[in-house]
Amino acid sequence: MTQELWTAVDAYIKEKMIPADAVLAAAQQNGIDAGLPPIAVSPVQGKMLHLLARMCGAKNVLEIGTLAGYSTIWLARALPAGERVITLELDRKHAEVSRKNFVMAGLADVIELRLGSALDSLPKLVEERRGPFDLIFIDADKSNIPAYFDWSLKLSRPGTVIVVDNIIRDGKVIDTDSKDPNIQGVRRFNERLATETRVSATEIQTVGEKGYDGFALLVVNG
Ligand code: SAH
Ligand code: DHB
Ligand code: MG
Repeated sequence: MTQELWTAVDAYIKEKMIPADAVLAAAQQNGIDAGLPPIAVSPVQGKMLHLLARMCGAKNVLEIGTLAGYSTIWLARALPAGERVITLELDRKHAEVSRKNFVMAGLADVIELRLGSALDSLPKLVEERRGPFDLIFIDADKSNIPAYFDWSLKLSRPGTVIVVDNIIRDGKVIDTDSKDPNIQGVRRFNERLATETRVSATEIQTVGEKGYDGFALLVVNG
């Protein structure tokens, strides 16, 4: 089974249940045109995030890692009127592109982007009592996933849903000797999950237009 087939099946799924969307397509293209890396969630994954947000009735959403704001737009569109997504981004250029995308999408009042290292922004969110969030999407640098998980717990309540992207990476996650700090970050996170009683978790391997990867799905216990 090949990448070509995974991409073709993703195209088939999109054709059936993800209507062509000029805003999302333009947001994606604006990122590519500005030279941002092509690593946003795929359309089928974006819709999954959107559905998860609706399934948990999310009103207060946190995203760590904005890029061009493609996943942010999917999440923001799941919220009832008057509610908010906060998204954290380190890179000034990524932040500029995504802020333009949020205006283009008519979501400038729904999405609050905080520029800076997530490890600086997260303590501020705690200080400002911006939690608890209903859904948290962790999708920034993978070496810091354990730290992002710790901060997410401080910004959670029983029932908060946490999704972590890119935790399989072509199966490299089981390479015990990996020197890749991203893989090491995921492996340390998994060591934590093995004994963490405050959440229930699973991890799902995925194939599709973005290759072979996967996501972690967690719920904070009551
Ligand atoms: N969620 C986006 C993709 C995010 S890509 C989508 O699916 O559309 C990862 C992003 O995390 C990049 O834009 C990168 O600049 C950002 N990032 C990397 N390290 C970071 C850090 N320490 N703090 C905040 N953002 C960071
Ligand atoms: C990378 C980051 C992502 O968030 C992703 O979904 C795919 C790849 C990366 O840094 O290579
Ligand atoms: Mg990702």
